[in-house]
Amino acid sequence: LQARSGSAVSGTLQVNPMGDGVHVSGRISGLAPNSDHGFHIHEKGDCSAADASSAGGHFNPAGQPHGKVGDTPHHLGDQMNLHADAAGTAVVDAHFAGVSLGTGQDSDVMNRALVVHADPDDYTSQPSGNAGKRIACGVIMK
Ligand code: CU
Ligand code: ZN
Repeated sequence: LQARSGSAVSGTLQVNPMGDGVHVSGRISGLAPNSDHGFHIHEKGDCSAADASSAGGHFNPAGQPHGKVGDTPHHLGDQMNLHADAAGTAVVDAHFAGVSLGTGQDSDVMNRALVVHADPDDYTSQPSGNAGKRIACGVIMK
């Protein structure tokens, strides 16, 4: 992940096919202590903008509204918030159902971006859960 929007966030995530989707795991540090953060797959694998706006909106090949995984209609790129502990570290262990890796299908998340936000996702606001600035961004690649 690359720090964005002036943050000091760092971390490396592994992305692997698993079951009906893709599993993302790893560790992110430099977050505010005891904080929650929106976490999504975004459409474009471009983290170059200082605010990561270049990554575009949430990955949404099925044309659904933004929502809560396992509860309401949601983007395939939607995910539960990350929680940072008292040291500002979040352990990532997230399953994105319904997406694929390197298949070339509509569901393929290769060359898209993982984004961590400054604020928690409320799982309700459109189009992106009102999760605030993009504080870290990383392109999914081999
Ligand atoms: Cu996001
Ligand atoms: Zn979304």
